[in-house]
Amino acid sequence: MMKQDIWRCQFHLTPPTGWMNDPNGICQFQGLYHVFFQYAPDYPEDMNKSWGHYISRDMVHWDFVGTTFYPDTVYDKDGAFSGNTFIENDTMVIYYTGNVEQDGDHDYTHSGRESNTIRVTSKDGIHFSDKKCVLNQYPAGYTCHIRDPKIWKEADTYKMVLGGRKNDDRGAILIFQSRDGIHWEFSHDATSTKPFGFMWECPDIFEMNGEWYLSCCPQGVTPEEYRYQNYHLSGYVPISRIAQHIDESLFTEWDYGFDFYAPQTFVDESGRRILIGWVGGPDMTYEEPTLKHHNWIHKLTVPRVVTKQGHRLLQTPIPELDTLHGEAFTLINGEWFTTKTNAFDWQLECAVSEEQSFEINITTGLRLTYANQILALQFSDNSGAGRTVRKVLCEKVDNLRLLMDCSVLEIFINDGAIVQTTHVFPETSQLAIRATGDFTKNCLWDMDINL
Ligand code: FRU
Repeated sequence: MMKQDIWRCQFHLTPPTGWMNDPNGICQFQGLYHVFFQYAPDYPEDMNKSWGHYISRDMVHWDFVGTTFYPDTVYDKDGAFSGNTFIENDTMVIYYTGNVEQDGDHDYTHSGRESNTIRVTSKDGIHFSDKKCVLNQYPAGYTCHIRDPKIWKEADTYKMVLGGRKNDDRGAILIFQSRDGIHWEFSHDATSTKPFGFMWECPDIFEMNGEWYLSCCPQGVTPEEYRYQNYHLSGYVPISRIAQHIDESLFTEWDYGFDFYAPQTFVDESGRRILIGWVGGPDMTYEEPTLKHHNWIHKLTVPRVVTKQGHRLLQTPIPELDTLHGEAFTLINGEWFTTKTNAFDWQLECAVSEEQSFEINITTGLRLTYANQILALQFSDNSGAGRTVRKVLCEKVDNLRLLMDCSVLEIFINDGAIVQTTHVFPETSQLAIRATGDFTKNCLWDMDINL
């Protein structure tokens, strides 16, 4: 084991030990922010999922509460899978999927798997009621892969969306409704006009300035040169309020980096819609050296404020993170600069021209280039741990923000219209960086949780 862990993040949530995946039940309740997450503290020996739990007053400084839901009942013995929080009457109500794998000769797709929608409540966000299974019967035409409930309310009716895989290997969403949040009846389901992935995980339906959106994670979409480069995607699509048809041609990826999946959103007490995603993804073949050297793997993105511009959703880091700004530096375009730490907030504004191009280096192995309206994020050394290149088309670049935190880089382009998130594992904690191009602002702040 390497002695010093230079990859443990300053302001991104990581698992204390073991494995982390999806954020779950993210919310603000009685003033406190809660982030639960898919957690396997003894990974790789034990992959069975529990819910870990962090709380915070400001989404910058977090306290680890412990494990909130273990897979310890007949309804969730093979995993307390993902779910969401619904807050009403000073009560936190959590719905999640209890995964059960039956004994026998099964493929666990077409047979052998139970998906139990479990409900628990809490008056303080820390202590929870007993688990109650409120739904485990689903319509015909589906495989056993149905999961990840998200609840909202319209007038007097509670609505629930679940993600599913149909028998013909089409991803879909299922919508249920209820008068009391306990007894649920099937309303309808919806899939895309053309096939778009075999399974849609982690659906989220929400309204932004009068327009409704479905966010979901279609699995198994054929990669293209400038989009869908991760085989399992994550994105959003405008829908009609009742979500009966999904036009996959309007699907926009939340993030064009290597490592992003399973985001959730919630509205906080000040009315902002906040998104947090998993820095990772299913079926990844990349190595994560943090596991081998320090016994933990993956992290969550910073909370991002979601706003709307036309049909496009913009994501920007919550302004609370600016409180971590330490010393500020103005960089000289084209010249190398050595950072004081490996956690920084680097902000650039660009002079836009017809032939706009630039190159940004973070150490010698990680480059972000822009030319011919193509943004390319590429690794040429071990800091990518097997990652190579992710490209996205972008008409022009007005501004960029690179939020680097020890072993994760989140890049926000044009006020967050395009985002690229990647794991990165530099070998030193001071990084040589450089931006070459026509920049009208080129400023960097050290970021340190202990400042
Ligand atoms: C998404 C996902 C969810 C599931 C959970 C299990 O990454 O596969 O669909 O509930 O992870 O950990």
